[in-house]
Amino acid sequence: MKHETIEKNVGLLMLLMVFAVSIGGLTQIVPLFFQDVTNKPVDGMKPYTALQLEGRDIYIREGCVGCHSQMIRPFRAETERYGHYSVAGESVWDHPFLWGSKRTGPDLARVGARYSDDWHRAHLYNPRNVVPESKMPAYPWLVANALDSSHTETKLRAMRTLGVPYTNEDIAGATESLKGKTEMDALVAYLQVLGTAIKSKR
Ligand code: HEC
Repeated sequence: MKHETIEKNVGLLMLLMVFAVSIGGLTQIVPLFFQDVTNKPVDGMKPYTALQLEGRDIYIREGCVGCHSQMIRPFRAETERYGHYSVAGESVWDHPFLWGSKRTGPDLARVGARYSDDWHRAHLYNPRNVVPESKMPAYPWLVANALDSSHTETKLRAMRTLGVPYTNEDIAGATESLKGKTEMDALVAYLQVLGTAIKSKR
């Protein structure tokens, strides 16, 4: 009888279905908000410097995330190629995170320190200079563009509001530290720190 009432009342049926389906999701998702392993930074991790943070914004502006993930899955094929799998504690200060879902190019979660700064500069200027068969687009303007640091302090302050432990000194000195830097300097600084909080043998 009760079942019949529910079946004949579409609104109630939908409500109860959503309730039933969400239990499964919630039991997986809710605990993650309260576990140290998912919301505490990994040991020794440092917040991005002003230069790296600006580089990250250029990474977002140029749409690198459309071709590159930053998420190494815990599978042998991935860890052999890229290094230690990604852990949640590495992303806690990333707002927004850039895990991505498309790998036209390789994963970049641990690209930091894999190549020299000069390699990255040559590669971003024109990927074909160092990887002849590459189909990655060239980004020559990054060398010519001076880095816009007019919002850097505001960005750092916004990150602090979101829980990134920037000190007053970090924020006060931010704009000054970017004098004379190009967009290329910032992007390379960002790439070089990716994944370096966890030491991994490749
Ligand atoms: C249209 C897709 C595409 C876009 C957009 C793109 N890439 Fe790539 N990227 C690739 C491909 C394909 C490769 C592999 C060939 C090569 O090394 O050039 C690659 C390789 C790389 C590598 C070398 C990775 C390694 O482990 O060897 C880096 C670093 C990189 N890209 C950074 C960037 C950055 C930074 C941006 C944004 C400014 C970007 N890519 C945008 C496709 C792309």
